Amino acid sequence: MTILALESSCDENSAAVLVDGRVKSLETVTQKVHVEWGGVVPELAGRSHLKLQDEIACRALERAGIQLGEVDYVASTSGPGLVGSLLVGYYYGTALALSMGVPFIPVHHMEAHLWSIELDRDPLPLPALVLLVSGGHTLLLLVRGFRDYELLGQTRDDALGEAYDKVGKLLGLRFPAGAEIDRLAQLGSESAIAFPIALRDQSLDFSYSGLKTAVANCVKQNPKWVTSENCPDLLASFQLAAIQSALEKVALAMHRFPVSSIAAAGGVAANSKLRSGLAALSEKFDVPLSVPPMKYCADNAAMVGYVAHKMLEHEFEVEPWPVRPRWPITELGNVQTSPY
Ligand code: KG4
Ligand code: ZN
Repeated sequence: MTILALESSCDENSAAVLVDGRVKSLETVTQKVHVEWGGVVPELAGRSHLKLQDEIACRALERAGIQLGEVDYVASTSGPGLVGSLLVGYYYGTALALSMGVPFIPVHHMEAHLWSIELDRDPLPLPALVLLVSGGHTLLLLVRGFRDYELLGQTRDDALGEAYDKVGKLLGLRFPAGAEIDRLAQLGSESAIAFPIALRDQSLDFSYSGLKTAVANCVKQNPKWVTSENCPDLLASFQLAAIQSALEKVALAMHRFPVSSIAAAGGVAANSKLRSGLAALSEKFDVPLSVPPMKYCADNAAMVGYVAHKMLEHEFEVEPWPVRPRWPITELGNVQTSPY
């Protein structure tokens, strides 16, 4: 079964070819037009996808050594994401599928991040506690199987990656700032500033806007923190509070739910402190940790193709529907919300 998969929900244009669930090629371009604006500009993102879409899809096919006529299914992210960006991949994908007489499979972006954990890896030991952390989402899920999820908690305001990007903007770092903050934080002292850790209660929700405001106030009150000498200390202290709060919620959930593994995915799953903290929890609770290889943490079409493969394997009804910029994961079949 050969799938041509597309991802264009935000500022990455990506295409992949998967044969029987295995990645044969992956081509990804991160749009550079947003750097000077310090964040993704939706209109520019959509226009840039239009320019890139055909070239990236053709490159993925060429790299995989697959002719268009050999493709059995076309899949594309149809939400959540920026509407103008989603429409490009969606209409390119549906038009291609229609012209070849093959089915089109719409994919949920966060479900794709979730199963990216299995790309080039063993199957996820289930049930699993999965932390999904990206620029737009922070979700804690109990995963019992494909489309058998329980949403345990989510952010009440900013996503974890968003907090990194906003702090980066405050300090004049290039967008997206997560990876650079992670690098600089490793050079600083975590105990330099005691930033607050939000929601230290029994809920499994997250909150990051207060932390971002605390960093802004700190910089305003004492500009010495933005100097190149002190910036690593500021960022190490920020990173400690940001990651610690996520790890505390994972630990709380581990006490409540007996699981066979812990996992994390999404752009922020590339974070060194999050990875080492999760590794420590996996040791403490004596369950394996699954995280995707770095190349599958950020937005990519391999994860989109893999979920399409899983949808077909589990014989989920494949119906085309319009793009859904807002598409809570709870609206996928069989997802429950937790009473916690
Ligand atoms: O999953 P992703 O590529 O796109 C979305 O779906 O949002 O995640 C991008 C986010 C950005 O906010 C970026 O700053 C963050 O992931 N990120 C990181 C790291 N690498 C990327 N955050 C913290 N530490 C990192 N090493
Ligand atoms: Zn993403």
